[in-house]
Amino acid sequence: MAASQLSCLLLLVCVLPAVEPCLQCDRVIKYLHDDFIDKLTGDTLQDQADIKDIIDHAYVTYKETSNRFHGVIDPTTMYRARTEYQSEFERFWKDEHSSYIKWEIIMIVVKGRQILEKHLKIFDGEGLCPNKCGLLYQTLINCTSCQYELHTCLSTTYPKSCGEHHMLMEEGGEVVLNCYLSWHSLITGQVEYHYYWRPQNVGSQTFSLVSSFETLVVTTESKIVLNQLQVDEAGLYLCLLKDKHGTVFSQIKFNLTIYPLLRTSPVPIPTMLSFPVDYDAKPTWVLHPNTNNIIVGLVIVISLAAIIILITLFG
Ligand SMILES: *[C@@H]1O[C@H](CO)[C@@H](O)[C@H](O)[C@H]1NC(C)=O
Ligand SMILES: *[C@@H]1O[C@H](CO)[C@@H](O)[C@H](O)[C@H]1NC(C)=O
Repeated sequence: MAASQLSCLLLLVCVLPAVEPCLQCDRVIKYLHDDFIDKLTGDTLQDQADIKDIIDHAYVTYKETSNRFHGVIDPTTMYRARTEYQSEFERFWKDEHSSYIKWEIIMIVVKGRQILEKHLKIFDGEGLCPNKCGLLYQTLINCTSCQYELHTCLSTTYPKSCGEHHMLMEEGGEVVLNCYLSWHSLITGQVEYHYYWRPQNVGSQTFSLVSSFETLVVTTESKIVLNQLQVDEAGLYLCLLKDKHGTVFSQIKFNLTIYPLLRTSPVPIPTMLSFPVDYDAKPTWVLHPNTNNIIVGLVIVISLAAIIILITLFG
């Protein structure tokens, strides 16, 4: 993880205080300059001393430039500024040098100051204390002492929350509560997300009494998933990012409302035709031994009798 790498880096700096990472005292840049002076051939000792003075003066201007931007820089910005200047200087070194070498040296170290200023301006606008809320101890390089230090970034809204989310969910559904903020990745050391909860109908409906909340979960993951939501899971959820000393870095609130599923009564299926259960398609004229058939039989017998009487009467 980036955080653990950073703490290793910090440890390394503590063990080896000679590491000087700002542009004016960056070892790579310093060696580059020293090497350049050593390899100057055909120059007098006085010329070499003059060039050394020019470079020393440049370091002063680099320090002044960084002081105009809070005097601190982050390792990433430092790296960008250093690599850009390094490639400029190496290109300059390969070029043919005229008898105006001192003037050329001044030009290149001024270029270094401009590169540093360009990167510091971006960092000061976007990278320094990127937390708009909460508390952050940002690992930065002090451009005067050239040492890593933890810069306190305390937002003006602290300890107020970093946001309040109102969520309306359906019973049986799923909701993700996430209290990650991009600057959390800059926090060094062990921190955990503490989720708390208070049911909807308990106490006053405010977040003020944190003591009345019950702990739901403590996790290194920033988000929790609540699935198969029950109506009684509604309420106020609180997410605090804390270290092991209890220092709160950020706080996010969630107000979860769960509306119950509509339980509709079964709709009667409209029936076009209703048949008796024992309905079958047999034609009705098939004679069954029931009363109807007896009547039919009687009618036939009477009809036959009538025919016989008519024949005998009229011959
Ligand atoms: C940087 O270090 C110097 C010397 O140790 C100190 O005076 C200064 O306050 C520090 N600057 C910041 C921004 O912390
Ligand atoms: C949370 O939402 C419920 C329902 O909309 C509302 O009655 C309650 O006042 C809200 N609580 C807070 C602290 O915003």
